Amino acid sequence: MVKRISTGVFELDSMLDGGVPEGFFVAVVGEPGTGKSVLSMHFIHQGLVEGSGGIYVTTEQDRGSIVEQAKTFGWDWEPFLGRGLIIIDALEPKSTDPWSLPEMDIEHMIGKVIEAKKHLGYRPARLVVDSISAFWLDKPALARKYSYTVKRILGKWNLTAYLVSQYAITTAMAFGWGVEHIADGIFRFRRRIVRGELKRYFIIEKMRHTNHDTRMYEIDIKPGRGIVFVKPVEDIDIHDMEREYRIH
Ligand SMILES: Nc1ncnc2c1ncn2[C@@H]1O[C@H](COP(=O)(O)OP(=O)(O)OP(=O)(O)O)[C@@H](O)[C@H]1O
Ligand SMILES: [Mg+2]
Repeated sequence: MVKRISTGVFELDSMLDGGVPEGFFVAVVGEPGTGKSVLSMHFIHQGLVEGSGGIYVTTEQDRGSIVEQAKTFGWDWEPFLGRGLIIIDALEPKSTDPWSLPEMDIEHMIGKVIEAKKHLGYRPARLVVDSISAFWLDKPALARKYSYTVKRILGKWNLTAYLVSQYAITTAMAFGWGVEHIADGIFRFRRRIVRGELKRYFIIEKMRHTNHDTRMYEIDIKPGRGIVFVKPVEDIDIHDMEREYRIH
């Protein structure tokens, strides 16, 4: 029997037949501002609620910003910092801060995550790398190789992981085309302007070993709650959406 862990979002757990299989590496992909980091924070918060450890590697916001963002959803992470929750800061590294990354280097990142996991102990833990694409920005051709390295090494450490990958806006493809093939699952976010308003969408594109929901949903992000599933959408033309983000 596959053991499933909660994503922290009730509707998403149901769409996943109970949750993400423990030990899986899930790619979280989508354009800016669509909800990748918020979904990742739900995942980490759920771990804290359940008493399992969390490791959050952040390359886009510094640690303080992540903690502040969590507060807007009603989650106080301060008491967990350095204990059940380790936020590895790759944006504002300080030499006095053991949980920071002086360089955006994949091997250093993996080493630091292992250190954090040892610190948390032998129990299973949750890992978010937000974003993994930051580690191959200057060498996209290596994305796939690096993704293998991450999965091969970190796969042995009793971690269930979300690997956040950004979109290349010009092509509407995940940056580097690496992580999606190697990941056990793919959560894809999209966005679109509908009648002058920003709409966000979400679909589970892949989850190995799982009879998952295959519909695209409109979602919203709300203060005090985080991600909210609004309704499945039927009339979305994905080609239209892709055209919107392609620069001719
Ligand atoms: N407390 C909040 N209440 C309502 N909406 C919020 C709140 N916090 C964030 N948002 C919305 O969520 C968006 C950011 O979502 P998120 O940080 O998850 O995006 P992302 O997909 O990680 O983007 P990026 O690729 O730029 O990191 C904001 O632009 C805002 O619209
Ligand atoms: Mg983000």
